[in-house]
Amino acid sequence: MPKHGVILVGAGDMGGQHARAWSKVGEEIAAIVDLDGERAHKLAEQYGVKRTFSDYRQAIAELSNAELVDVAVPLVEHLPVTVEAARHGKHVLCEKPIARDLREVDQMEEAIDRAGVKFAVGFQRNLPPGVAFLRDEVAKGRFGRPLLFTVDGMAEVRPKRFMHDQENNNGPVVDLLGHYFLLWETVFGSKPVHISADGFVAAANRPEIAHFAHKAVDTAVVTVRYASGDVGSMSVSWGLAAKSRVPTGPERLAGPEAVAVMGEYRDFSWESITIYRGEGQHYEKLPEAPAFVLQAQAFLDYLEGRRTEPPSGIAEGRHLLRLSLAALESIQSGKTIVL
Ligand SMILES: NC(=O)c1ccc[n+]([C@@H]2O[C@H](COP(=O)([O-])OP(=O)(O)OC[C@H]3O[C@@H](n4cnc5c(N)ncnc54)[C@H](O)[C@@H]3O)[C@@H](O)[C@H]2O)c1
Repeated sequence: MPKHGVILVGAGDMGGQHARAWSKVGEEIAAIVDLDGERAHKLAEQYGVKRTFSDYRQAIAELSNAELVDVAVPLVEHLPVTVEAARHGKHVLCEKPIARDLREVDQMEEAIDRAGVKFAVGFQRNLPPGVAFLRDEVAKGRFGRPLLFTVDGMAEVRPKRFMHDQENNNGPVVDLLGHYFLLWETVFGSKPVHISADGFVAAANRPEIAHFAHKAVDTAVVTVRYASGDVGSMSVSWGLAAKSRVPTGPERLAGPEAVAVMGEYRDFSWESITIYRGEGQHYEKLPEAPAFVLQAQAFLDYLEGRRTEPPSGIAEGRHLLRLSLAALESIQSGKTIVL
């Protein structure tokens, strides 16, 4: 199979994950781009990539044979890099969240449609087999109904400060929650009907983020009700004191008949799921399934026509962002938002 050639924009954490995934699926990385030249070079060396750039516009214009641009930069850059790639006729795999607001999503969609290129947004966590396993068990009625899916995450102020900037990744409600909205919707097999949330900026007075004029909500409890009657709930804080290492509770799915407790993540994929049913306990060991490798393969399958839809496309990206924005609106207004 001929290689498409990937221009990987961003050589940070996600850039590293994506580079590994492209190499695992046998795809060629034509160039790595990062404002930080040293980062770009280091990653390029690791994966035998010949070209590095500091300016994605230059890389996209120069590498006319590369068919695909992989967007692994902070959120503020998702729109401009996507539009530039589409303008040059290149397909786009873009990290999540899709964009900062719905207007930006519209602009991305317009550029993609006009160019006739393919686009996917990177909600890789939904691809490993544990999610399908849980969805199928729910559909077979193994847990009873209604269901409650609970998740929590507590962390120090993020070392990547841009996560706390309202003008950029906009805190966990925007940056992180999309993964869970998609997970809940998949497992419940149902659409959200309303969302309520409360929250605040716990790190409002922290010197590390004093330079941001508009600090993102970093601490929240978000609850989503689905048409099925099921509920998903997350409590999250990215506002703890520096160096805090607080154990995170396991993700749990509880129904009247049984409860599933998810094991640790390995490569963004659950290692196991334990199901408690009365006195009984069933331990389901899940196969190793690095989520970013599944995502890279799914995107190639989409490009090459082996699947008709991307793993997550524009519509899904918009839908998940809309839920995050509704959660922020609920925090601001103190009201439940009907979807
Ligand atoms: N899918 C997931 O599970 C997941 C997890 C973490 C982050 N993300 C998303 O991935 C994106 C990147 O996050 P990260 O954790 O890799 O951040 P990071 O800070 O580790 O890396 C970002 C890199 O982008 C570079 N960069 C910034 N602006 C640039 C520009 N204009 N041109 C070229 N390079 C530029 C930075 O120098 C940095 O090296 C974010 O949008 C984030 O939301 C997704």
